Amino acid sequence: MAIDPNFQSNRKVVSKHEGHDVWGPVEPPEVLGIHGTVVAVDFDICIADGICFDVCPVDVFKWLDTPGHSKSEKKADPVNEQDCIYCLACETQCPVEAIKIIQP
Ligand code: F3S
Ligand code: F3S
Ligand code: ZN
Repeated sequence: MAIDPNFQSNRKVVSKHEGHDVWGPVEPPEVLGIHGTVVAVDFDICIADGICFDVCPVDVFKWLDTPGHSKSEKKADPVNEQDCIYCLACETQCPVEAIKIIQP
């Protein structure tokens, strides 16, 4: 299942991480929520494929270790989402559709 494109209506911000929002629910290690708002990554869908790192021209992502999560033990954390130039390469190429770009 892909990231919910309406996550801003359907979820609530439960915390901040590295300057970006975390949208719940969050119950580690199995339920990690969505990190980011402009570049939103559903950690519960991400399988650590890594193509988002390869295609992003402005290095938005940094690996975050998530030991104990069933889909993958690291996630693409959008730590530099403010640098996104909305090329949409990551959203288009993520094999599990874990990323949603929301241009402000
Ligand atoms: Fe994860 Fe998709 Fe990137 S699976 S590492 S968000 S390409
Ligand atoms: Fe990078 Fe994705 Fe934005 S590839 S520039 S984070 S649309
Ligand atoms: Zn994060």
